[in-house]
Amino acid sequence: MYNAKAYSAASAKSPLASTTIPRRDPTERDVQIEILFCGICHSDLHQARNEWSSFMPTVYPCVPGHEIVGRVTKVGSAVKKFKPGDLAAVGCLVDSDRTCPECRAGFEQFCANMTLTYNSPDKHTGAVTYGGYSDSIVVDERFVLRVPSNLDLAGAAPLLCAGITTYSPMRHWGVTKGKKVGVVGIGGLGHMAVKIAHALGAHVVAFTTSASKKEDALRLGADEVVVSRNVNEMQKHAGSFHFVLDAVAAAHDINAYLNLLRRDGNITLVGAPEKPLAVSAFALIFGRRSLSGSPIGGIAETQEMLDFCGKHNITANVEVIPIQKVNEAYERLLKSDVKYRFSIDMASLKSG
Ligand SMILES: NC(=O)c1ccc[n+]([C@@H]2O[C@H](COP(=O)([O-])OP(=O)(O)OC[C@H]3O[C@@H](n4cnc5c(N)ncnc54)[C@H](OP(=O)(O)O)[C@@H]3O)[C@@H](O)[C@H]2O)c1
Ligand SMILES: [Zn+2]
Ligand SMILES: [Zn+2]
Repeated sequence: MYNAKAYSAASAKSPLASTTIPRRDPTERDVQIEILFCGICHSDLHQARNEWSSFMPTVYPCVPGHEIVGRVTKVGSAVKKFKPGDLAAVGCLVDSDRTCPECRAGFEQFCANMTLTYNSPDKHTGAVTYGGYSDSIVVDERFVLRVPSNLDLAGAAPLLCAGITTYSPMRHWGVTKGKKVGVVGIGGLGHMAVKIAHALGAHVVAFTTSASKKEDALRLGADEVVVSRNVNEMQKHAGSFHFVLDAVAAAHDINAYLNLLRRDGNITLVGAPEKPLAVSAFALIFGRRSLSGSPIGGIAETQEMLDFCGKHNITANVEVIPIQKVNEAYERLLKSDVKYRFSIDMASLKSG
């Protein structure tokens, strides 16, 4: 074991603060990575503050961070995919049982025994896993991804959660040329969804509560932008969408979006608000519409998404911050005041 520098929350009410955490020395199949950038996902905030307590209670101290890119510093003797000096990335998963039907089908995100990058039981230490707000991490090579060399690293980090979480359901629901696709909530996930849906060839409509994001959404690749507080603007799109991706982090009226779906249209929730949403049965019944959810993505699909983003030169629009600004960043995230993802420059951790 060795000590790594990190930022952790000591309780649901504490700000994140500098600390040291134990990490295992790389075993045979492990890759040790010096973390260069880590994105800030809204899930980090939900978990640091124990907002998902009924589903996934937070174990403290909690070191968030699952949008990790860095450079390999050491590899175990049996590692084949990576060597010291390579770029490497880690997303929301660091392990799974690898034997269940879901794992065998490449759906590690549905494995009942998956290990999340933070706040999961750690098989190696017997404690809890610690995430990417840290100077290094040690992960089995089977859960380490390759970063296309043409991508800016600060902007590539958010692909590891925001990218895959939006790419996976869009692939599953057949987003392609000729499909009308809505993206609700132009935050970290939503802005990636707009870019990816556009690259997949769909007609993209962005829904935002922030009129100030209108011009940006068009630049990100939306064909149309609707300010969702405007009922008339919403009404114009009634019954017209094949697919809507809902990436809103807070309570909102999902029925307003169900009504925008055409027959057999689907709305997929990736946003995970603290409280349940109220769904109108009639909004589903008329039109045989469906409502579903989707978690992150498997390892193979995450690599596919990274390669897709490499090919289309897609990264997140990031505001790079030092780790010392993480608490301020959380407050701004709550106000939708970031364009469109914070990415922590982990070199800043060297100074405190
Ligand atoms: N399913 C998964 O596997 C998965 C993975 C990652 C994250 N998530 C969840 O996805 C959600 C979004 O994450 P994120 O990192 O993209 O968050 P984010 O950057 O904070 O973006 C959320 C966006 O939702 C909109 N919004 C916020 N409050 C709203 C309100 N009261 N009413 C309507 N719209 C509101 C805002 O967009 P506008 O300003 O455009 O309205 C905001 O930018 C979070 O709940 C997160 O935990 C789920
Ligand atoms: Zn995330
Ligand atoms: Zn499994």
